[in-house]
Amino acid sequence: MNRRAPVALVVSLTAALALAGCSSDSSSSSASSSDRPELKVSGGYMPRPVSDLAAGFIVVTNSGDAADKLTSVTSDLSDDITIHTTESQKMREVTSFDIPAGGELQLERGGSHIMFAKLKQRPEVGQKVDIELHFEKTDPITVELPVKETTYNPAQH
Ligand code: CU
Repeated sequence: MNRRAPVALVVSLTAALALAGCSSDSSSSSASSSDRPELKVSGGYMPRPVSDLAAGFIVVTNSGDAADKLTSVTSDLSDDITIHTTESQKMREVTSFDIPAGGELQLERGGSHIMFAKLKQRPEVGQKVDIELHFEKTDPITVELPVKETTYNPAQH
């Protein structure tokens, strides 16, 4: 049988898609700006876990001219990390969080959060947990989450 034809077809399709992506990008960009996300992560923390589950909270600010998405989180603390929203006090796993251009993504208690399951250890208050954030467009960003009291909530003063 001839194996060459299908391979050639796939390659040409991929090239066509890549070209289509490029041309639509450039036609939608404004004349003035760089059209890229500029992300900054702040305010991260992890409430001290009391089981083999933990939550993580961060704020991602986007000062750029393009939206991005938080797509996944990795850490040595757990091989089972997902991102969740909370609706009517029920958690739901999502595939990504939007980070709008000129806006921010806020993960906070009672809302969206990073969920760490099957913890390899339980960090104590004062320790720090390194996490790596993965985005649709921006290169991965590593941040340290300080471990706070289990009930810690920066929104309540
Ligand atoms: Cu959750």
